[in-house]
Amino acid sequence: MAHILVVDDEQSICELLEITFRKEGHRVEVARNGEAAKRLLQSQIFDIVISDIRMPDATGVDLLQFCKELSPSSYFLLITGVPTVETAIAAINSGADRYVIKDHDLVDQLRRAVRQVDETLRLKHEAGYLRRELRRLTGQDNIIGHSPKMRAIFEMVQTVAPQSSRVLITGETGTGKELIARAVHENSPRANQPFITINCGAFPETLLESELFGYMKGAFTGANENREGLFNAANGGTLFLDEIGNMSLQMQVKLFRVLQEGKVRPLGSNEETEIDVRVIAATNKDLDKAIAAGEFREDLYYRLSVIPIQLPPLRERRDDIPLLARAFLERFRTSMEKPIEGISPEAIHLLEAYDWPGNVRELENTIERSVALETGNMISVAVLPEKVSRQRKEIGEVPGVAAITANGTAQIPEGGIDLVKHMQDTERAYIVAALEACGGVGTRAAELLRMSYRSFRHYSKKYNIN
Ligand SMILES: Nc1ncnc2c1ncn2[C@@H]1O[C@H](COP(=O)(O)OP(=O)(O)OP(=O)(O)O)[C@@H](O)[C@H]1O
Ligand SMILES: [Mg+2]
Repeated sequence: MAHILVVDDEQSICELLEITFRKEGHRVEVARNGEAAKRLLQSQIFDIVISDIRMPDATGVDLLQFCKELSPSSYFLLITGVPTVETAIAAINSGADRYVIKDHDLVDQLRRAVRQVDETLRLKHEAGYLRRELRRLTGQDNIIGHSPKMRAIFEMVQTVAPQSSRVLITGETGTGKELIARAVHENSPRANQPFITINCGAFPETLLESELFGYMKGAFTGANENREGLFNAANGGTLFLDEIGNMSLQMQVKLFRVLQEGKVRPLGSNEETEIDVRVIAATNKDLDKAIAAGEFREDLYYRLSVIPIQLPPLRERRDDIPLLARAFLERFRTSMEKPIEGISPEAIHLLEAYDWPGNVRELENTIERSVALETGNMISVAVLPEKVSRQRKEIGEVPGVAAITANGTAQIPEGGIDLVKHMQDTERAYIVAALEACGGVGTRAAELLRMSYRSFRHYSKKYNIN
């Protein structure tokens, strides 16, 4: 669906085109002269402009230049009832995307042209979708975790994703806030629409405002053309406001108003456009404290925090560490093409004992670094960062834990292994993974594990998994 401006001094043409394109589902505005068209171009952003060439107060070519300066990315189609070689040349030279003669198949020609533009817009849209899909397929968006805390979070995501309610994600740095935000989007009916991220802490206030809401040419020094804001770019999809806790109080007031009214007005414009955007916000700050200190508005907090999700730090879910470490090992050994098969039992033990102030991101970096440094076929204590290996002195003896191998070959640690426990851990992990893969549908999870639903129930019960 495109936003179209039709400019013509002939009422019948305006009506014809307006009806035609509305019927096809586009949003259409009409201007009957050059002045009116310029006002609309200054206050709204159009995907396509269809303009007559000869009008009493302006020519279509003037309007084209005016439009190209304001919104270079708009498509401009010129139409004329009096085709001459000169106007055709002028149209092409000034950068018209199409030049169409008003004859019996004007409507068909324009319809085709608009469809092509629409297709281009759709492809652009799809490119965003494909990029996200690629992230998903390369495993960058796979959320890993089997600890009860993470499972509760996955359940929450499944429950809230289908609705459009706002979500506020809190948690220390590197706990996976952005990953969860993406998961909410991917599991929602908006998944094929844009997911747009902005780091609110990375922009000075005025820039943040123009990024979010867009601006019209001349709204401030340096505003050389009309620009769509991220709220508009995310229309139909999700806008992820990262580091919301760093937003200035004035900006918070403006954001509050937009959330309250569902409308956005670009800087320098007097037109508000309605938007349909799901907002997900995240912060690593304690917003309760920020509110008490007068740094965060309580009213905005309640608007954003319809569904609060709090991500636990990694040190509060240590059972996820081996699983995460293994997944990262898998990713990096593939991308670095290194024949590393696993992580030594002692190294795993140290990884589990460390406190991870940088949470999952720090673990990810640690594994990446270890894969790069390791020359053997197992990640050994020697390549772990000193801050991790240092704990060896404190925790002492390493019990016989099973080595985690990436390709399935068994590694028996020097001190032997508690095989029964190891098998149980493995069974449990597969049951959980299958359930996650099947969205909690037990019968499908059983199929995935090639077992009867009855056995599946037996194992779920044995390990207390719902
Ligand atoms: N549960 C998880 N499974 C797999 N990877 C994860 C998980 N949690 C986090 N990661 C990875 O850790 C890194 C940090 O995650 P993310 O950027 O989502 O954290 P964040 O909470 O937004 O951090 P910050 O507050 O610093 O912005 C990313 O590379 C992400 O892919
Ligand atoms: Mg983040």
